[in-house]
Amino acid sequence: MLGRVNHIALAVPDLSAAVERYRSMLGALLTEPEALPEHGVTVVFVTLDNTKVELLEPLGAGSPVAAFLAKNPAGGMHHICYEVEDILATRDSLVAAGGRVLGDGNPKIGAHGKPVLFLHPKDFFGTLIELEQV
Ligand code: CO
Repeated sequence: MLGRVNHIALAVPDLSAAVERYRSMLGALLTEPEALPEHGVTVVFVTLDNTKVELLEPLGAGSPVAAFLAKNPAGGMHHICYEVEDILATRDSLVAAGGRVLGDGNPKIGAHGKPVLFLHPKDFFGTLIELEQV
């Protein structure tokens, strides 16, 4: 049912500083910043051979990443994104098994133009999980 790891997301307090650090210290290949107002974040992806790392900076009032950074001011791991073939079927079986989906329960369009859902971290041992339909 679960596919590949699509990306691992790290919340950072200063996206341009994080981009510079990844470029200068790690020689990382990075995408241009993209604002996603519907998700309350600006994102940059570190492009890797086997997956991606998503650097997240809060965007706008009420950003969920701002709340995370209030608890973790230096930044930290924010979520892991798994690929699924059918996001609605995955959601329905998760909910039937007692799992919780964040928000209104319906997929939103994520950073790659594909439907995404977030699962309640308390159901997964403290880690926020994103599902992306590929
Ligand atoms: Co993500």
